[in-house]
Amino acid sequence: METQNSSRCCKNLFIAVALITFFSAIFYMYYEPSVNWLNCPAVPKHEVCGNICINALKMPDQIQLVNNTCIVNFTSVRHQLTQTEAPSSQGDDLDTILLIWMFPFGQPFDLGLCSSMYDIHGCHLTADKSQFNRAHGVFFHHGDINGDLSNMPKLPRPPFQKWVWINMESPSNSGQRSNLNNLFNLTATYRQDSDIMVPYGRMSVESGGKKHEKIPHKNKLVCWIVSNWNSNYERSKYYAELKEHISIETYGNHFNRRISDQHYSDVVSSCKFYLSFENSIHKDYITEKLYNPLSLGTVPVVLGPPRKNYEEFIPGSAFIHVHDFNSPKELAEHLKLLDQNDDLYRQYFTWREHLVESRSFFGLEHACRACDHIRRNKNYRVVNDLNSWYWG
Ligand SMILES: *[C@@H]1O[C@H](CO)[C@@H](O)[C@H](O)[C@H]1NC(C)=O
Ligand SMILES: *[C@@H]1O[C@H](CO)[C@@H](O)[C@H](O)[C@H]1NC(C)=O
Ligand SMILES: *[C@@H]1O[C@H](CO)[C@@H](O)[C@H](O)[C@H]1NC(C)=O
Repeated sequence: METQNSSRCCKNLFIAVALITFFSAIFYMYYEPSVNWLNCPAVPKHEVCGNICINALKMPDQIQLVNNTCIVNFTSVRHQLTQTEAPSSQGDDLDTILLIWMFPFGQPFDLGLCSSMYDIHGCHLTADKSQFNRAHGVFFHHGDINGDLSNMPKLPRPPFQKWVWINMESPSNSGQRSNLNNLFNLTATYRQDSDIMVPYGRMSVESGGKKHEKIPHKNKLVCWIVSNWNSNYERSKYYAELKEHISIETYGNHFNRRISDQHYSDVVSSCKFYLSFENSIHKDYITEKLYNPLSLGTVPVVLGPPRKNYEEFIPGSAFIHVHDFNSPKELAEHLKLLDQNDDLYRQYFTWREHLVESRSFFGLEHACRACDHIRRNKNYRVVNDLNSWYWG
């Protein structure tokens, strides 16, 4: 009795495993087929491979599995496609068209700058919604998508078209939205695991002889500008303890000491240290709070993801991390020591001998890089579970 049961159980288990394997294989085939197979080896180079590949996936009768490899009859698919192919652009046939469906926060940017600013060629950005059916990509900014998706396109999506999801806010700062699953094809965020990564800033080897000015004159020790105050934020707790051990010049709405944009640079550059405290702590979420003081000749004291994560973006010697010390008190002691020792303080600026920093141009840079990505990658891609990827 017992043995019979267990053999029946194992047979069922075997069938279950076989089914799961089969469906996983199908899932992966559809999820990112370019990884192993279906990377269109049979399509001549001058053709829009992506178009044919994608449509092939919609014609299951044209797909065969031979020796575990997916084989597509491209002759047949191409024949069936003649009516539905992407119309070529009137100007340059080779241009990839990216339609800006919504400008982030309604702030338009110049659409003609991809080549001059990012050396990206063959990309045509447009905000003309009548181009929807021709656009290879469509750009959507998370913060501007209506909760009920009422401002998203209603038209059927051309099969070759990729929808790009743009977000620069951390998961804590952006509303979680379950209705965004299975809608987009590409992600463009500050995260390194996005399809298109656009960090808040970059450091690169100096080119063209651009030299940094000497370290600006300092008349303040530690400064902090904060508008978005929340006493539950980790940075608020750290500040509360730090200020017991060192004097901190504070600015911003919360401290009833607003500063104008023009005044901002003067204030930040006149401080030896600036508290680059992020409002929420997430991997790769390293914002202008770091890059502004770096470019203004002020040493950032960072609170955010671990030091190792910062060092993936900037040299370890360019900043002080709160985790470098056991307590806010020890950090305060170190800052006071640096205040007394100019040689030690200057070591935080050695990166400026061979690197320059730059900040990203929100929206434009995402659009140019997304367009370039679409131009270079013709594979099929769906962001199935945006929700657990971003907020999970
Ligand atoms: C499938 O694999 C077998 C054995 O390795 C080989 O003889 C055969 O040619 C392969 N078929 C194709 C279509 O590649
Ligand atoms: C591919 O499709 C074409 C046109 O439908 C057909 O003539 C050809 O026999 C097919 N080739 C294979 C290998 O099935
Ligand atoms: C893009 O994603 C949508 C929605 O998941 C999917 O239906 C479509 O086939 C994908 N297109 C491409 C070109 O990857």
